[in-house]
Amino acid sequence: MSNIQQTLSIIKPDAVERNLSEEIKNEFRNNNFDILKEKKVKISKSEAEKFYQVHQSKPFYNDLCEYLSSGPIVVMVLEKNDAILENRKLMGATDPIKAEEGTLRKKYGISIDKNSVHGSDSLDNAKIEIDFFFKD
Ligand code: CMP
Repeated sequence: MSNIQQTLSIIKPDAVERNLSEEIKNEFRNNNFDILKEKKVKISKSEAEKFYQVHQSKPFYNDLCEYLSSGPIVVMVLEKNDAILENRKLMGATDPIKAEEGTLRKKYGISIDKNSVHGSDSLDNAKIEIDFFFKD
């Protein structure tokens, strides 16, 4: 049964800085994701705090927000059947050391913070995150 979903993907500062954006976009295309929207932006720390507000009680929240606002990022709306789960599978575990062979975080990630990509973790969060970056 078809279950077309949209999810938000971010190519994080560490990957943009290493000029990996095109390579990572091709990974999505090669895995049959349609890139419906994309833009390169640099967000402020307060915008990062809003984006990651679900993590505000976590000990790593401040560093995470500093990091996401530290340089340009590429944000995309990806579409595919079961896009949320499929993107999480393609990205691999949050910590690149624990990510499976062939996943984006294994291939490109440097550390748990500099893990190269973000993807929405649920349908509700995908809607919120897509609106955050692409609401007109
Ligand atoms: P992301 O999928 O963007 O969502 C939150 C981010 O917090 C996560 O990727 C990691 O880069 C970062 N992070 C830093 N430390 C941790 C941790 N201990 N557990 C989970 N995420 C962490």
